[in-house]
Amino acid sequence: MDIFIKNIVDVLKVEVPLSEEEIEGFIEIPPDLEKGDYAFPCFAIAKQLRNAPAKISAELAQKLPTGGIITEIKAIGPYLNFYVSRKMIFKAVLDEVFTKSDSYGCSESGAGKTAVIDYSSPNIAKHLAVHHLRSAVIGNAIHNIYKTIGYKCIGINHLGDWGTQFGQLIVAFKRWGPDTKGHVSIKETGLDITKLNELYVKFHKEAKDNPSLENEARDWFKKLENGNEEAEKTWQYFKDISLSEFQRVYEKLGITFDSYAGESFYNNMLDDTVNRIKDAGLAEISEEALIVNLEEYDMPPCILRKKDDASLYATRDICAAEYRKREYDFNKLIYVVGSEQRLHFKQFFKVLELMGYEWVDDCVHVDFGLIKFKGGKMSTREGKVILLEDLLEESCKIAMEIIEGKNADLENKTEVANQVGIGAIIFSELSTKRVKDVLFDWDEILNFDGETGPYVQYTHARLCSVLRKCGETATNEVNFDLFKEDDELLLVKKLEFLQLTIIRAARHCEPSIISKYLLDLCSTFNRFYQHHRILIDDSELKKARILLIDSVRQVIKNGLSILGLKAPERM
Ligand code: ARG
Repeated sequence: MDIFIKNIVDVLKVEVPLSEEEIEGFIEIPPDLEKGDYAFPCFAIAKQLRNAPAKISAELAQKLPTGGIITEIKAIGPYLNFYVSRKMIFKAVLDEVFTKSDSYGCSESGAGKTAVIDYSSPNIAKHLAVHHLRSAVIGNAIHNIYKTIGYKCIGINHLGDWGTQFGQLIVAFKRWGPDTKGHVSIKETGLDITKLNELYVKFHKEAKDNPSLENEARDWFKKLENGNEEAEKTWQYFKDISLSEFQRVYEKLGITFDSYAGESFYNNMLDDTVNRIKDAGLAEISEEALIVNLEEYDMPPCILRKKDDASLYATRDICAAEYRKREYDFNKLIYVVGSEQRLHFKQFFKVLELMGYEWVDDCVHVDFGLIKFKGGKMSTREGKVILLEDLLEESCKIAMEIIEGKNADLENKTEVANQVGIGAIIFSELSTKRVKDVLFDWDEILNFDGETGPYVQYTHARLCSVLRKCGETATNEVNFDLFKEDDELLLVKKLEFLQLTIIRAARHCEPSIISKYLLDLCSTFNRFYQHHRILIDDSELKKARILLIDSVRQVIKNGLSILGLKAPERM
Protein backbone atom coordinates (compact mmCIF):
# COMPACT_ATOMS: atom_id res chain seq x y z
CA MET A 1 0.00 0.00 0.00
CA ASP A 2 1.33 3.46 -0.71
CA ILE A 3 1.73 5.89 2.15
CA PHE A 4 -1.33 8.05 1.55
CA ILE A 5 -3.80 5.21 1.38
CA LYS A 6 -1.96 3.45 4.20
CA ASN A 7 -2.32 6.49 6.44
CA ILE A 8 -6.01 6.76 5.74
CA VAL A 9 -6.55 3.05 6.34
CA ASP A 10 -4.61 3.29 9.61
CA VAL A 11 -6.81 6.11 10.81
CA LEU A 12 -10.04 4.41 9.73
CA LYS A 13 -9.31 0.94 11.04
CA VAL A 14 -9.49 2.06 14.66
CA GLU A 15 -13.20 2.88 14.32
CA VAL A 16 -14.37 0.92 11.28
CA PRO A 17 -15.35 -2.77 11.67
CA LEU A 18 -13.60 -3.93 8.51
CA SER A 19 -10.22 -5.49 7.73
CA GLU A 20 -7.44 -3.30 6.34
CA GLU A 21 -7.88 -4.92 2.97
CA GLU A 22 -11.60 -4.28 2.95
CA ILE A 23 -11.19 -0.64 3.92
CA GLU A 24 -8.60 -0.16 1.22
CA GLY A 25 -10.96 -1.74 -1.30
CA PHE A 26 -13.57 0.95 -0.64
CA ILE A 27 -11.37 4.03 -0.82
CA GLU A 28 -11.97 6.16 -3.88
CA ILE A 29 -10.93 9.45 -5.42
CA PRO A 30 -13.81 11.99 -5.38
CA PRO A 31 -14.62 13.49 -8.77
CA ASP A 32 -13.84 17.06 -7.73
CA LEU A 33 -11.38 18.55 -5.33
CA GLU A 34 -13.88 20.26 -3.03
CA LYS A 35 -14.91 16.81 -1.96
CA GLY A 36 -11.42 16.05 -0.74
CA ASP A 37 -8.58 13.94 -2.01
CA TYR A 38 -9.83 10.54 -0.93
CA ALA A 39 -13.20 9.34 0.23
CA PHE A 40 -14.56 6.45 2.21
CA PRO A 41 -18.24 5.59 1.50
CA CYS A 42 -19.95 4.89 4.81
CA PHE A 43 -22.70 2.74 3.32
CA ALA A 44 -19.98 0.09 3.36
CA ILE A 45 -20.48 -0.23 7.11
CA ALA A 46 -24.05 0.99 7.59
CA LYS A 47 -25.51 -2.49 8.00
CA GLN A 48 -22.95 -3.58 10.56
CA LEU A 49 -23.26 -0.40 12.61
CA ARG A 50 -27.06 -0.27 12.16
CA ASN A 51 -26.93 3.38 11.45
CA ALA A 52 -27.55 5.70 8.51
CA PRO A 53 -24.44 6.26 6.35
CA ALA A 54 -24.66 10.04 6.70
CA LYS A 55 -24.82 9.77 10.48
CA ILE A 56 -21.85 7.43 10.56
CA SER A 57 -19.76 9.74 8.41
CA ALA A 58 -20.65 12.76 10.59
CA GLU A 59 -19.66 10.87 13.73
CA LEU A 60 -16.43 9.56 12.26
CA ALA A 61 -15.45 13.04 11.06
CA GLN A 62 -15.65 14.19 14.69
CA LYS A 63 -13.77 11.24 16.10
CA LEU A 64 -10.91 10.58 13.73
CA PRO A 65 -7.63 12.42 14.29
CA THR A 66 -5.84 14.48 11.64
CA GLY A 67 -2.12 15.20 11.47
CA GLY A 68 0.89 14.30 9.33
CA ILE A 69 -0.20 13.63 5.78
CA ILE A 70 -3.89 14.04 6.58
CA THR A 71 -4.76 17.70 6.98
CA GLU A 72 -8.53 17.50 7.29
CA ILE A 73 -11.39 14.98 7.58
CA LYS A 74 -14.84 16.12 6.59
CA ALA A 75 -18.23 14.44 6.26
CA ILE A 76 -20.16 15.15 3.06
CA GLY A 77 -23.37 13.18 3.05
CA PRO A 78 -22.60 9.48 3.33
CA TYR A 79 -18.97 10.05 2.41
CA LEU A 80 -16.10 10.63 4.74
CA ASN A 81 -13.62 12.84 2.93
CA PHE A 82 -9.91 13.10 3.54
CA TYR A 83 -7.70 16.03 2.57
CA VAL A 84 -3.98 15.40 2.33
CA SER A 85 -0.96 17.67 2.32
CA ARG A 86 -0.39 19.00 -1.19
CA LYS A 87 3.30 19.47 -0.83
CA MET A 88 3.79 15.96 0.48
CA ILE A 89 1.75 14.28 -2.21
CA PHE A 90 3.63 15.92 -5.10
CA LYS A 91 7.01 15.08 -3.69
CA ALA A 92 6.15 11.53 -2.64
CA VAL A 93 4.45 10.51 -5.87
CA LEU A 94 6.63 12.23 -8.45
CA ASP A 95 9.82 11.13 -6.73
CA GLU A 96 8.63 7.58 -6.72
CA VAL A 97 7.56 7.51 -10.36
CA PHE A 98 10.86 9.07 -11.34
CA THR A 99 13.06 6.65 -9.43
CA LYS A 100 11.07 3.49 -10.07
CA SER A 101 10.25 4.33 -13.72
CA ASP A 102 9.31 1.08 -15.48
CA SER A 103 8.64 -0.67 -12.19
CA TYR A 104 6.40 2.07 -10.75
CA GLY A 105 3.13 0.39 -9.79
CA CYS A 106 4.76 -2.83 -8.66
CA SER A 107 4.12 -3.98 -5.13
CA GLU A 108 5.15 -6.79 -2.87
CA SER A 109 1.77 -8.00 -1.68
CA GLY A 110 2.19 -11.31 -3.50
CA ALA A 111 5.84 -11.86 -2.63
CA GLY A 112 6.64 -15.52 -1.96
CA LYS A 113 3.35 -16.65 -3.53
CA THR A 114 2.73 -18.49 -6.78
CA ALA A 115 -0.13 -18.11 -9.23
CA VAL A 116 -0.78 -20.63 -11.98
CA ILE A 117 -2.83 -19.19 -14.83
CA ASP A 118 -4.47 -21.40 -17.46
CA TYR A 119 -5.35 -19.34 -20.55
CA SER A 120 -6.04 -19.53 -24.26
CA SER A 121 -5.92 -23.37 -24.17
CA PRO A 122 -7.35 -24.01 -27.65
CA ASN A 123 -8.13 -27.39 -29.13
CA ILE A 124 -5.55 -28.55 -31.65
CA ALA A 125 -6.36 -29.46 -35.25
CA LYS A 126 -8.75 -26.52 -35.36
CA HIS A 127 -8.11 -22.89 -36.21
CA LEU A 128 -7.73 -20.40 -33.42
CA ALA A 129 -10.97 -18.49 -33.56
CA VAL A 130 -11.99 -15.20 -32.02
CA HIS A 131 -13.28 -16.71 -28.78
CA HIS A 132 -9.77 -17.97 -28.09
CA LEU A 133 -8.68 -14.38 -28.33
CA ARG A 134 -10.58 -13.34 -25.23
CA SER A 135 -9.06 -16.03 -23.07
CA ALA A 136 -5.58 -15.32 -24.41
CA VAL A 137 -5.80 -11.57 -23.93
CA ILE A 138 -7.51 -11.61 -20.53
CA GLY A 139 -5.23 -14.41 -19.30
CA ASN A 140 -2.10 -12.64 -20.43
CA ALA A 141 -3.19 -9.44 -18.67
CA ILE A 142 -3.95 -11.34 -15.45
CA HIS A 143 -0.55 -12.98 -15.72
CA ASN A 144 1.08 -9.53 -15.93
CA ILE A 145 -1.09 -8.11 -13.15
CA TYR A 146 -0.16 -10.87 -10.72
CA LYS A 147 3.50 -10.52 -11.63
CA THR A 148 3.30 -6.83 -10.90
CA ILE A 149 2.01 -7.45 -7.39
CA GLY A 150 4.89 -9.78 -6.65
CA TYR A 151 3.57 -13.24 -7.45
CA LYS A 152 5.65 -15.83 -9.21
CA CYS A 153 3.46 -16.62 -12.23
CA ILE A 154 3.21 -19.75 -14.34
CA GLY A 155 1.21 -19.29 -17.54
CA ILE A 156 -0.09 -22.57 -18.92
CA ASN A 157 -1.59 -23.28 -22.31
CA HIS A 158 -3.72 -26.32 -21.49
CA LEU A 159 -3.99 -27.45 -25.11
CA GLY A 160 -6.99 -29.55 -26.00
CA ASP A 161 -4.82 -32.23 -27.54
CA TRP A 162 -6.44 -35.41 -26.26
CA GLY A 163 -9.75 -37.17 -26.65
CA THR A 164 -11.66 -39.48 -28.92
CA GLN A 165 -11.72 -36.96 -31.77
CA PHE A 166 -8.06 -37.70 -32.39
CA GLY A 167 -8.95 -41.33 -33.09
CA GLN A 168 -11.39 -40.03 -35.69
CA LEU A 169 -8.81 -37.76 -37.18
CA ILE A 170 -6.25 -40.54 -37.42
CA VAL A 171 -8.76 -42.71 -39.29
CA ALA A 172 -9.59 -39.87 -41.66
CA PHE A 173 -5.94 -39.07 -42.17
CA LYS A 174 -5.05 -42.67 -42.96
CA ARG A 175 -7.90 -43.07 -45.41
CA TRP A 176 -8.05 -39.73 -47.15
CA GLY A 177 -5.02 -37.73 -46.06
CA PRO A 178 -1.84 -37.01 -48.01
CA ASP A 179 0.80 -39.66 -48.33
CA THR A 180 3.44 -38.90 -45.70
CA LYS A 181 5.87 -41.58 -46.69
CA GLY A 182 9.24 -40.25 -47.69
CA HIS A 183 8.49 -36.73 -46.48
CA VAL A 184 10.98 -35.29 -44.06
CA SER A 185 9.03 -32.32 -42.86
CA ILE A 186 5.43 -31.37 -42.27
CA LYS A 187 5.59 -28.55 -44.77
CA GLU A 188 6.25 -30.96 -47.62
CA THR A 189 2.92 -32.71 -47.23
CA GLY A 190 1.14 -29.39 -47.56
CA LEU A 191 -1.12 -30.30 -44.64
CA ASP A 192 -2.40 -27.42 -42.55
CA ILE A 193 -5.24 -26.82 -40.12
CA THR A 194 -7.71 -26.08 -42.89
CA LYS A 195 -6.98 -29.47 -44.44
CA LEU A 196 -7.21 -31.15 -41.03
CA ASN A 197 -10.63 -29.58 -40.61
CA GLU A 198 -11.70 -30.93 -43.97
CA LEU A 199 -10.60 -34.40 -42.93
CA TYR A 200 -12.58 -34.06 -39.73
CA VAL A 201 -15.72 -32.99 -41.58
CA LYS A 202 -15.28 -35.83 -44.06
CA PHE A 203 -15.02 -38.33 -41.26
CA HIS A 204 -18.38 -37.33 -39.84
CA LYS A 205 -20.03 -37.34 -43.23
CA GLU A 206 -18.72 -40.81 -44.07
CA ALA A 207 -19.45 -42.18 -40.61
CA LYS A 208 -23.15 -41.52 -41.12
CA ASP A 209 -23.28 -44.21 -43.82
CA ASN A 210 -20.55 -46.33 -42.37
CA PRO A 211 -20.84 -46.61 -38.59
CA SER A 212 -17.92 -49.01 -38.38
CA LEU A 213 -15.68 -45.97 -38.84
CA GLU A 214 -16.60 -44.92 -35.31
CA ASN A 215 -15.37 -48.23 -33.92
CA GLU A 216 -12.21 -47.89 -35.91
CA ALA A 217 -11.73 -44.42 -34.46
CA ARG A 218 -12.28 -45.66 -30.92
CA ASP A 219 -9.67 -48.32 -31.51
CA TRP A 220 -7.20 -45.75 -32.74
CA PHE A 221 -7.75 -43.53 -29.74
CA LYS A 222 -7.25 -46.56 -27.49
CA LYS A 223 -4.02 -47.24 -29.35
CA LEU A 224 -3.00 -43.64 -28.79
CA GLU A 225 -3.74 -43.88 -25.09
CA ASN A 226 -1.68 -47.07 -24.92
CA GLY A 227 1.32 -45.54 -26.62
CA ASN A 228 1.11 -47.20 -30.06
CA GLU A 229 3.91 -45.79 -32.19
CA GLU A 230 1.98 -45.08 -35.38
CA ALA A 231 -0.89 -43.49 -33.51
CA GLU A 232 1.47 -41.31 -31.53
CA LYS A 233 3.45 -40.21 -34.57
CA THR A 234 0.34 -39.20 -36.48
CA TRP A 235 -1.12 -37.34 -33.50
CA GLN A 236 2.21 -35.56 -32.93
CA TYR A 237 2.10 -34.50 -36.52
CA PHE A 238 -1.35 -32.92 -36.06
CA LYS A 239 -0.06 -31.20 -32.98
CA ASP A 240 3.01 -29.76 -34.70
CA ILE A 241 0.90 -28.36 -37.53
CA SER A 242 -1.47 -26.75 -35.03
CA LEU A 243 1.24 -25.31 -32.81
CA SER A 244 3.01 -23.65 -35.70
CA GLU A 245 -0.16 -21.69 -36.48
CA PHE A 246 -0.94 -20.97 -32.84
CA GLN A 247 2.52 -19.68 -32.14
CA ARG A 248 2.43 -17.39 -35.13
CA VAL A 249 -0.71 -15.75 -33.73
CA TYR A 250 0.58 -15.58 -30.15
CA GLU A 251 3.71 -13.89 -31.42
CA LYS A 252 1.65 -11.24 -33.18
CA LEU A 253 -0.31 -10.67 -30.01
CA GLY A 254 2.83 -10.63 -27.87
CA ILE A 255 1.45 -13.40 -25.68
CA THR A 256 3.68 -16.03 -24.11
CA PHE A 257 3.30 -19.11 -21.92
CA ASP A 258 5.62 -20.84 -19.51
CA SER A 259 4.21 -24.25 -20.32
CA TYR A 260 2.30 -25.93 -23.13
CA ALA A 261 1.38 -28.96 -21.02
CA GLY A 262 -1.97 -29.80 -22.59
CA GLU A 263 -4.46 -32.54 -21.87
CA SER A 264 -2.24 -35.27 -23.35
CA PHE A 265 0.46 -34.46 -20.82
CA TYR A 266 -1.62 -36.13 -18.11
CA ASN A 267 -2.27 -39.38 -19.96
CA ASN A 268 -0.11 -41.58 -17.78
CA MET A 269 -1.18 -39.88 -14.54
CA LEU A 270 -4.89 -40.48 -15.07
CA ASP A 271 -5.03 -43.96 -13.51
CA ASP A 272 -3.63 -42.65 -10.25
CA THR A 273 -6.13 -39.82 -10.18
CA VAL A 274 -9.05 -42.13 -10.86
CA ASN A 275 -7.79 -44.54 -8.20
CA ARG A 276 -7.64 -41.76 -5.63
CA ILE A 277 -11.24 -40.85 -6.46
CA LYS A 278 -12.24 -44.50 -6.11
CA ASP A 279 -10.32 -44.88 -2.84
CA ALA A 280 -12.15 -41.89 -1.44
CA GLY A 281 -15.37 -43.82 -2.10
CA LEU A 282 -16.61 -41.23 -4.59
CA ALA A 283 -16.81 -43.25 -7.81
CA GLU A 284 -19.67 -45.41 -9.03
CA ILE A 285 -20.70 -47.17 -12.22
CA SER A 286 -23.64 -45.74 -14.10
CA GLU A 287 -24.66 -46.92 -17.56
CA GLU A 288 -21.31 -48.70 -17.74
CA ALA A 289 -19.42 -45.46 -17.26
CA LEU A 290 -17.41 -44.51 -14.18
CA ILE A 291 -18.84 -41.36 -12.61
CA VAL A 292 -18.93 -39.19 -9.50
CA ASN A 293 -22.56 -38.70 -8.59
CA LEU A 294 -23.24 -35.04 -7.85
CA GLU A 295 -27.01 -35.24 -7.47
CA GLU A 296 -26.73 -34.09 -3.89
CA TYR A 297 -25.22 -30.84 -5.16
CA ASP A 298 -27.80 -30.35 -7.91
CA MET A 299 -25.41 -31.08 -10.68
CA PRO A 300 -25.21 -33.75 -13.36
CA PRO A 301 -22.60 -36.45 -12.70
CA CYS A 302 -18.95 -35.85 -13.41
CA ILE A 303 -17.96 -38.61 -15.85
CA LEU A 304 -14.46 -40.00 -15.31
CA ARG A 305 -14.31 -42.87 -17.79
CA LYS A 306 -16.60 -43.87 -20.65
CA LYS A 307 -17.68 -47.47 -21.01
CA ASP A 308 -14.69 -48.17 -23.25
CA ASP A 309 -12.49 -46.80 -20.46
CA ALA A 310 -11.54 -43.63 -22.36
CA SER A 311 -10.92 -40.61 -20.14
CA LEU A 312 -12.78 -37.31 -20.47
CA TYR A 313 -12.13 -33.57 -20.35
CA ALA A 314 -13.08 -33.46 -16.66
CA THR A 315 -10.87 -36.45 -15.74
CA ARG A 316 -7.93 -34.66 -17.27
CA ASP A 317 -8.77 -31.39 -15.53
CA ILE A 318 -8.92 -33.07 -12.11
CA CYS A 319 -5.61 -34.75 -12.81
CA ALA A 320 -4.06 -31.48 -14.05
CA ALA A 321 -5.15 -29.61 -10.93
CA GLU A 322 -3.52 -32.24 -8.70
CA TYR A 323 -0.36 -32.13 -10.78
CA ARG A 324 -0.19 -28.33 -10.66
CA LYS A 325 -0.50 -28.37 -6.90
CA ARG A 326 2.30 -30.95 -6.61
CA GLU A 327 4.54 -29.26 -9.17
CA TYR A 328 4.04 -25.57 -8.37
CA ASP A 329 2.43 -25.55 -4.94
CA PHE A 330 0.29 -22.63 -6.10
CA ASN A 331 -1.48 -20.14 -3.87
CA LYS A 332 -3.88 -19.43 -6.70
CA LEU A 333 -4.94 -21.44 -9.74
CA ILE A 334 -6.78 -19.27 -12.25
CA TYR A 335 -8.70 -20.70 -15.20
CA VAL A 336 -9.52 -18.09 -17.84
CA VAL A 337 -12.30 -19.83 -19.73
CA GLY A 338 -15.63 -18.66 -21.21
CA SER A 339 -18.82 -18.58 -19.15
CA GLU A 340 -20.31 -21.45 -21.14
CA GLN A 341 -18.05 -23.82 -19.21
CA ARG A 342 -19.26 -22.71 -15.78
CA LEU A 343 -20.87 -26.04 -15.00
CA HIS A 344 -17.77 -27.99 -15.95
CA PHE A 345 -15.71 -25.99 -13.44
CA LYS A 346 -18.32 -26.26 -10.70
CA GLN A 347 -18.41 -30.01 -11.19
CA PHE A 348 -14.74 -30.75 -11.10
CA PHE A 349 -14.06 -28.24 -8.31
CA LYS A 350 -16.69 -30.13 -6.33
CA VAL A 351 -14.92 -33.42 -7.01
CA LEU A 352 -11.63 -31.91 -5.80
CA GLU A 353 -13.38 -30.71 -2.67
CA LEU A 354 -14.89 -34.14 -2.03
CA MET A 355 -11.42 -35.64 -2.46
CA GLY A 356 -10.48 -33.58 0.56
CA TYR A 357 -8.29 -30.98 -1.12
CA GLU A 358 -8.58 -27.77 0.85
CA TRP A 359 -6.65 -25.94 -1.83
CA VAL A 360 -9.72 -26.10 -4.06
CA ASP A 361 -10.60 -22.78 -2.40
CA ASP A 362 -7.61 -21.29 -4.22
CA CYS A 363 -8.95 -22.37 -7.62
CA VAL A 364 -11.02 -19.85 -9.55
CA HIS A 365 -12.84 -19.96 -12.82
CA VAL A 366 -12.36 -16.50 -14.28
CA ASP A 367 -15.14 -16.50 -16.83
CA PHE A 368 -15.98 -14.09 -19.62
CA GLY A 369 -18.71 -13.30 -22.14
CA LEU A 370 -18.82 -13.66 -25.90
CA ILE A 371 -17.49 -11.48 -28.67
CA LYS A 372 -20.25 -10.33 -30.94
CA PHE A 373 -19.63 -8.74 -34.28
CA LYS A 374 -21.41 -5.67 -35.43
CA GLY A 375 -22.46 -6.08 -39.06
CA GLY A 376 -20.22 -5.02 -41.90
CA LYS A 377 -16.69 -6.11 -42.40
CA MET A 378 -16.06 -9.58 -41.05
CA SER A 379 -19.46 -10.03 -39.51
CA THR A 380 -20.42 -13.59 -38.70
CA ARG A 381 -23.64 -13.23 -40.61
CA GLU A 382 -22.31 -15.12 -43.57
CA GLY A 383 -22.03 -18.04 -41.18
CA LYS A 384 -18.28 -18.15 -41.51
CA VAL A 385 -15.92 -18.60 -38.61
CA ILE A 386 -13.79 -15.53 -38.20
CA LEU A 387 -10.16 -16.50 -38.02
CA LEU A 388 -8.08 -14.75 -35.48
CA GLU A 389 -5.21 -14.27 -37.86
CA ASP A 390 -7.45 -12.51 -40.41
CA LEU A 391 -8.86 -10.29 -37.71
CA LEU A 392 -5.42 -9.15 -36.55
CA GLU A 393 -4.29 -8.52 -40.09
CA GLU A 394 -7.36 -6.43 -40.87
CA SER A 395 -6.86 -4.32 -37.77
CA CYS A 396 -3.23 -3.59 -38.64
CA LYS A 397 -4.28 -2.69 -42.16
CA ILE A 398 -6.84 -0.15 -40.95
CA ALA A 399 -4.32 1.26 -38.45
CA MET A 400 -1.88 1.72 -41.33
CA GLU A 401 -4.47 3.64 -43.35
CA ILE A 402 -5.14 5.93 -40.39
CA ILE A 403 -1.44 6.57 -39.81
CA GLU A 404 -0.89 7.23 -43.53
CA GLY A 405 -3.54 9.92 -43.22
CA LYS A 406 -2.24 11.44 -40.01
CA ASN A 407 1.51 11.13 -40.19
CA ALA A 408 2.65 9.83 -43.55
CA ASP A 409 6.31 10.66 -42.86
CA LEU A 410 6.55 8.47 -39.79
CA GLU A 411 9.76 6.45 -39.97
CA ASN A 412 8.77 2.99 -38.73
CA LYS A 413 5.20 3.09 -40.00
CA THR A 414 4.63 -0.64 -40.34
CA GLU A 415 5.86 -1.36 -36.84
CA VAL A 416 3.70 1.38 -35.34
CA ALA A 417 0.66 0.34 -37.38
CA ASN A 418 1.04 -3.19 -36.03
CA GLN A 419 1.37 -1.95 -32.46
CA VAL A 420 -1.74 0.18 -32.87
CA GLY A 421 -3.75 -2.44 -34.77
CA ILE A 422 -3.01 -5.18 -32.26
CA GLY A 423 -3.34 -2.75 -29.36
CA ALA A 424 -6.82 -1.74 -30.54
CA ILE A 425 -7.99 -5.34 -30.45
CA ILE A 426 -6.41 -6.15 -27.10
CA PHE A 427 -7.79 -3.01 -25.47
CA SER A 428 -11.29 -3.60 -26.80
CA GLU A 429 -11.23 -7.02 -25.12
CA LEU A 430 -10.15 -5.49 -21.85
CA SER A 431 -12.13 -2.30 -21.62
CA THR A 432 -15.44 -3.81 -20.58
CA LYS A 433 -16.01 -6.01 -17.56
CA ARG A 434 -15.00 -9.47 -18.61
CA VAL A 435 -18.33 -11.17 -17.87
CA LYS A 436 -20.07 -8.86 -20.32
CA ASP A 437 -20.30 -9.69 -24.00
CA VAL A 438 -18.10 -7.53 -26.20
CA LEU A 439 -19.53 -5.88 -29.27
CA PHE A 440 -16.79 -5.74 -31.82
CA ASP A 441 -17.06 -2.67 -34.01
CA TRP A 442 -14.21 -1.61 -36.28
CA ASP A 443 -15.25 2.05 -36.20
CA GLU A 444 -15.16 2.03 -32.43
CA ILE A 445 -12.02 0.06 -31.59
CA LEU A 446 -9.74 2.08 -33.86
CA ASN A 447 -11.20 5.46 -33.02
CA PHE A 448 -8.30 7.65 -31.87
CA ASP A 449 -10.70 9.84 -29.89
CA GLY A 450 -12.81 7.08 -28.37
CA GLU A 451 -12.35 4.95 -25.28
CA THR A 452 -9.84 2.84 -27.11
CA GLY A 453 -6.32 1.49 -27.08
CA PRO A 454 -5.23 3.84 -29.89
CA TYR A 455 -6.53 6.80 -27.84
CA VAL A 456 -4.37 5.82 -24.87
CA GLN A 457 -1.40 5.08 -27.12
CA TYR A 458 -1.91 8.39 -28.90
CA THR A 459 -1.99 10.31 -25.63
CA HIS A 460 1.28 8.63 -24.72
CA ALA A 461 2.83 9.56 -28.07
CA ARG A 462 1.61 13.12 -27.62
CA LEU A 463 3.27 13.32 -24.22
CA CYS A 464 6.51 12.05 -25.75
CA SER A 465 6.26 14.71 -28.41
CA VAL A 466 5.66 17.50 -25.88
CA LEU A 467 8.64 16.29 -23.88
CA ARG A 468 10.84 16.20 -26.98
CA LYS A 469 9.88 19.78 -27.74
CA CYS A 470 10.84 20.87 -24.23
CA GLY A 471 14.40 20.01 -25.01
CA GLU A 472 15.11 19.09 -21.39
CA THR A 473 15.06 15.68 -19.78
CA ALA A 474 13.02 15.29 -16.63
CA THR A 475 14.70 15.51 -13.25
CA ASN A 476 13.26 15.08 -9.77
CA GLU A 477 15.33 17.98 -8.45
CA VAL A 478 12.44 20.40 -8.65
CA ASN A 479 10.68 22.76 -6.30
CA PHE A 480 7.52 20.86 -5.33
CA ASP A 481 5.99 24.00 -3.78
CA LEU A 482 5.40 25.33 -7.29
CA PHE A 483 2.49 22.99 -7.96
CA LYS A 484 -0.44 25.21 -7.14
CA GLU A 485 -3.04 24.29 -9.75
CA ASP A 486 -6.01 22.03 -9.11
CA ASP A 487 -5.46 20.30 -12.45
CA GLU A 488 -1.99 19.35 -11.29
CA LEU A 489 -3.31 17.95 -8.06
CA LEU A 490 -5.95 15.90 -9.87
CA LEU A 491 -3.27 14.50 -12.11
CA VAL A 492 -0.80 13.59 -9.38
CA LYS A 493 -3.53 11.86 -7.40
CA LYS A 494 -4.37 9.71 -10.41
CA LEU A 495 -0.71 8.78 -10.73
CA GLU A 496 -0.67 7.81 -7.12
CA PHE A 497 -3.63 5.48 -7.61
CA LEU A 498 -1.85 3.14 -10.02
CA GLN A 499 -0.62 0.67 -7.43
CA LEU A 500 -3.97 0.33 -5.73
CA THR A 501 -5.66 0.00 -9.13
CA ILE A 502 -3.42 -2.95 -10.00
CA ILE A 503 -4.05 -4.59 -6.63
CA ARG A 504 -7.80 -4.24 -7.15
CA ALA A 505 -7.54 -5.62 -10.68
CA ALA A 506 -5.73 -8.64 -9.23
CA ARG A 507 -8.25 -9.12 -6.47
CA HIS A 508 -11.13 -9.31 -8.95
CA CYS A 509 -9.12 -10.82 -11.82
CA GLU A 510 -10.48 -7.87 -13.76
CA PRO A 511 -8.10 -6.15 -16.21
CA SER A 512 -10.85 -3.67 -17.16
CA ILE A 513 -10.16 -1.86 -13.86
CA ILE A 514 -6.79 -0.89 -15.33
CA SER A 515 -8.20 0.07 -18.75
CA LYS A 516 -10.73 2.35 -17.07
CA TYR A 517 -7.96 3.86 -14.97
CA LEU A 518 -5.86 4.58 -18.07
CA LEU A 519 -8.76 6.21 -19.91
CA ASP A 520 -9.37 8.35 -16.86
CA LEU A 521 -5.74 9.30 -16.55
CA CYS A 522 -5.62 10.29 -20.23
CA SER A 523 -8.64 12.53 -19.94
CA THR A 524 -7.29 14.08 -16.73
CA PHE A 525 -4.07 14.83 -18.57
CA ASN A 526 -5.87 16.21 -21.61
CA ARG A 527 -7.84 18.55 -19.37
CA PHE A 528 -4.67 19.71 -17.69
CA TYR A 529 -2.98 20.24 -21.03
CA GLN A 530 -5.87 22.30 -22.35
CA HIS A 531 -5.45 24.83 -19.55
CA HIS A 532 -1.75 24.83 -18.76
CA ARG A 533 1.44 25.14 -20.70
CA ILE A 534 4.74 23.39 -20.28
CA LEU A 535 6.93 25.55 -22.48
CA ILE A 536 6.98 28.64 -20.30
CA ASP A 537 9.52 31.28 -19.38
CA ASP A 538 9.51 30.48 -15.67
CA SER A 539 12.25 27.88 -15.84
CA GLU A 540 11.62 26.49 -12.34
CA LEU A 541 7.94 25.90 -13.00
CA LYS A 542 8.78 24.51 -16.40
CA LYS A 543 11.11 21.99 -14.77
CA ALA A 544 8.43 20.98 -12.28
CA ARG A 545 5.83 20.52 -15.02
CA ILE A 546 8.22 18.50 -17.15
CA LEU A 547 8.59 16.13 -14.22
CA LEU A 548 4.82 15.96 -13.84
CA ILE A 549 4.04 15.13 -17.44
CA ASP A 550 7.01 12.81 -17.77
CA SER A 551 5.44 10.91 -14.86
CA VAL A 552 2.13 10.76 -16.70
CA ARG A 553 3.96 9.37 -19.74
CA GLN A 554 5.64 6.75 -17.57
CA VAL A 555 2.45 5.65 -15.86
CA ILE A 556 0.55 5.30 -19.14
CA LYS A 557 3.41 3.24 -20.51
CA ASN A 558 3.45 0.97 -17.46
CA GLY A 559 -0.32 0.52 -17.53
CA LEU A 560 -0.35 -0.32 -21.24
CA SER A 561 2.43 -2.80 -20.76
CA ILE A 562 0.50 -4.64 -18.04
CA LEU A 563 -2.48 -4.94 -20.38
CA GLY A 564 -0.20 -6.24 -23.12
CA LEU A 565 -0.05 -3.14 -25.36
CA LYS A 566 2.99 -1.39 -26.75
CA ALA A 567 3.45 2.33 -26.20
CA PRO A 568 4.93 3.82 -29.39
CA GLU A 569 6.71 7.15 -28.90
CA ARG A 570 5.55 8.53 -32.23
CA MET A 571 2.34 7.80 -34.04
N1 ARG B 1 -9.70 -26.54 -24.66
C1 ARG B 1 -10.83 -25.96 -24.04
C2 ARG B 1 -11.71 -25.28 -25.08
O1 ARG B 1 -11.23 -24.87 -26.12
C3 ARG B 1 -10.48 -24.95 -22.97
C4 ARG B 1 -9.61 -25.48 -21.87
C5 ARG B 1 -9.58 -24.56 -20.67
N2 ARG B 1 -8.74 -25.02 -19.62
C6 ARG B 1 -9.03 -26.05 -18.80
N3 ARG B 1 -8.15 -26.39 -17.90
N4 ARG B 1 -10.17 -26.68 -18.88
O2 ARG B 1 -12.89 -25.13 -24.85
